[in-house]
Amino acid sequence: MTKPVVIGTPHSEHALRVLLLGSGELGKEVAIELQRFGVEVIAADRYADAPAMQVAHRCHVLDMLEGAAIRALIELEKPHLVVPEIEAIHTETLVELEREFAQAGTATRIVPTARAARLTMDREGIRRLAAETLGLPTSPYRFVDTREDYHQAVRALGLPCVVKPVMSSSGKGQSLVRSDADIDAAWDYAQTGGRAGAGRVIVEGFVDFDYEITLLTVRHAAGTAFCPPVGHLQRDGDYRESWQPQPMSAQALAGACAIAKAVTDDLGGWGLFGVELFVKGDEVWFSEVSPRPHDTGLVTLISQELSQFALHARAILGLPIPADEAGWIDLIGPSASCAVLAQGHGVPVFGAVDAALRAPRTALRLFGKPRVEGQRRVAVTLARGEDAEQARALAREAASALVVELR
Ligand SMILES: Nc1ncnc2c1ncn2[C@@H]1O[C@H](COP(=O)(O)OP(=O)(O)O)[C@@H](O)[C@H]1O
Ligand SMILES: [Mg+2]
Repeated sequence: MTKPVVIGTPHSEHALRVLLLGSGELGKEVAIELQRFGVEVIAADRYADAPAMQVAHRCHVLDMLEGAAIRALIELEKPHLVVPEIEAIHTETLVELEREFAQAGTATRIVPTARAARLTMDREGIRRLAAETLGLPTSPYRFVDTREDYHQAVRALGLPCVVKPVMSSSGKGQSLVRSDADIDAAWDYAQTGGRAGAGRVIVEGFVDFDYEITLLTVRHAAGTAFCPPVGHLQRDGDYRESWQPQPMSAQALAGACAIAKAVTDDLGGWGLFGVELFVKGDEVWFSEVSPRPHDTGLVTLISQELSQFALHARAILGLPIPADEAGWIDLIGPSASCAVLAQGHGVPVFGAVDAALRAPRTALRLFGKPRVEGQRRVAVTLARGEDAEQARALAREAASALVVELR
């Protein structure tokens, strides 16, 4: 038997406090789900008025790559749960704090574990764990620090190959190298596009997959559950459309579940993970994993009674996750999401919102991002259909009906 879950009242001495490290659109939905349980939500990010801050009890603006700042915030707020929402956090500090809390008998937990946050904050930790420790199939890869080693790695892996800074996300600094002419440009882009500036790069052999999926995997008090596979389309390393369910052969699906189970069991803790996999026929490769809700999983806001955000909230609080005997979470029906990007400079203003919602079984989320500088995802449209293809068409139509201006 697990311990009964007790939740107090916000703004009282009995409050259950959750600190979100990162306050983007995914954190906003997690905050809303926690609010529904009467949890006291504290949102932090590096800029003011971030989406999750707009639905939190309190917020803090700090540089989360600074260990001392994270430590001071956690000492100030004394949260029961610390929930990293992004990768760009000083995760070494979370590892230290987790150890200190265990020694002191403090109830604070890092979600899902500090080790999971640390291993997934750069591509090297998680790739070496998956491929070298767990022996899971991945693309062939090399890590390189100099242009010379990079050239050697490209020769060894062959073309096409994919080049990424180890510290980056959403396609920043990432290139597909198709021919000799692209080789040097890809190195230069990786050196300028990474989160930590110039530095280590992963070179991966190109996997010529039929499709790629995110297997949303929930580790909870009573076991592990899976959402039906989410298929997705990436452009320039950033997600544009996702749909659910992605049809798969029984063998590929079993392989995907086995990989997701192995990785998430090793990372441990409670929470929802987004396990990214490439599939060709019956063959499955591990790509990467987020120890938190995944952007492609936004589709679950319309496809499931409990979205990935609701599942994350339940799991981290130790609450039950409804799933069938094989561990599958129920789908309402085939669904899709379409990302809405804004390009330029200014404050997003959305026109024709009514037109975007004209079709039945469509929905959208306007994230409330305070400003766009360059290219940013500012909204997502959602639709259910007769099948995933129809749902995708409806979500795309809703997205193109929406008029996004930057003022
Ligand atoms: N080795 C690879 N072979 C084929 N496609 C890849 C490979 N690595 C990445 N990609 C494509 O680029 C996308 C983004 O890469 P990913 O490693 O997930 O970076 P990010 O952390 O920015 O999401 C993937 O979803 C996939 O479409
Ligand atoms: Mg990815």
